[in-house]
Amino acid sequence: MTIIVTGGAGFIGSNFIFHMLKTYPEYRIICLDALTYAGNLSTLKDVMDNPNFRFVKASITDREAVYGLFEEEHPDVVVNFAAESHVDRSIENPSVFLETNILGTQVMMDACRKYGIKRYHQVSTDEVYGDLPLDRPDLFFTEETPIHTSSPYSASKASADLLVQAYHRTFGLPVTVSRCSNNYGPYHFPEKLIPLMIANALNDKPLPVYGKGENVRDWLYVEDHCKAIDLIIHKGTVGEVYNIGGHNEMKNIDIVRLICKELGKPESLITYVADRKGHDMRYAIDPTKIHNELGWLPETKFADGIKKTIKWYLDNRQWWEEIISGEYQSYYEKMYGNRS
Ligand code: NAD
Ligand code: TYD
Repeated sequence: MTIIVTGGAGFIGSNFIFHMLKTYPEYRIICLDALTYAGNLSTLKDVMDNPNFRFVKASITDREAVYGLFEEEHPDVVVNFAAESHVDRSIENPSVFLETNILGTQVMMDACRKYGIKRYHQVSTDEVYGDLPLDRPDLFFTEETPIHTSSPYSASKASADLLVQAYHRTFGLPVTVSRCSNNYGPYHFPEKLIPLMIANALNDKPLPVYGKGENVRDWLYVEDHCKAIDLIIHKGTVGEVYNIGGHNEMKNIDIVRLICKELGKPESLITYVADRKGHDMRYAIDPTKIHNELGWLPETKFADGIKKTIKWYLDNRQWWEEIISGEYQSYYEKMYGNRS
């Protein structure tokens, strides 16, 4: 089995590559990644010498490069993680989100049509469903929930999902789609809530909480997401969408307080800053379908996962310090410099 994993130098894609090489040592895994600001080759250093692994630097929007790779490797499966993934950046500059997330998806699927494929899997997000009100804890996103997006990021992911379903219906492409809730764990880029708060707290810097910190996210340990995708590509039904989430809803402010507590840092570091534009209030996944059909259940409890994650950031300071000492500084200044 040969699998192309796009976006494998990023957070979830790299964790997926580690999971697959460990679980299926006989599989050939090819990582296709453009190494944008979010991609980091050092993340993949432990697998670079594995004879069953190959890294290719190219954009999923580069049709010639993608077709060339398919001609060389004849993949059986494509798992498309490659995306611009940060909501705040999509508010600043939507264009690259449309190019990568929509047009890149089209190029990958065109290659799958041209050269043949057993499965094309699209890694999507619960953000395509928009948000839920805080005062209706009985409501959850199911696969039937209408697409209703808030940010340029979620709109681009939703557009890609629709295109994937169109390629299935019109061209018979054997696709599956997964929509997961917020992930956390090792190699999470420090622009996102949990790693940003860990890095800032360790550096005794202010912890910028948007609005009142009341927004709720449904957190899943990254390895559980990877195991769910592994199940879907092997046992999932072609043409189907699967929601992935572990019923672990938490308010942002509670996460930040917990990080302070775990690191022994004072809550006085917490600074409330101007809210995100169009900020989604609550995400909450109903994972009944993937549980009933594929037997998936999350294995890592949040209390354990967050401890493991914090320990990883403590043990791997070099990884994130290198990131935050580079172009990240101008990003941080732009996003947080005058934000009160
Ligand atoms: P990430 O930003 O950490 O990594 C994205 C990777 O894609 C990087 O390695 C980057 O270099 C690469 N990339 C970007 N543009 C590319 C292009 N044009 N061609 C090739 N590679 C390109 O993102 P992540 O958090 O790992 O998310 C991965 C996928 O999972 C995304 O599709 C995202 O929408 C989805 N998702 C993320 C979460 C989450 O909580 N992080 C939750 C649900 C779904
Ligand atoms: P994020 O990690 O960007 O994921 P998403 O927006 O895709 O859910 O943000 C998670 C939540 O944390 C979201 O409600 C926005 C909030 N947040 C802050 O309060 N401060 C921050 O500095 C960041 C990056 C996010």
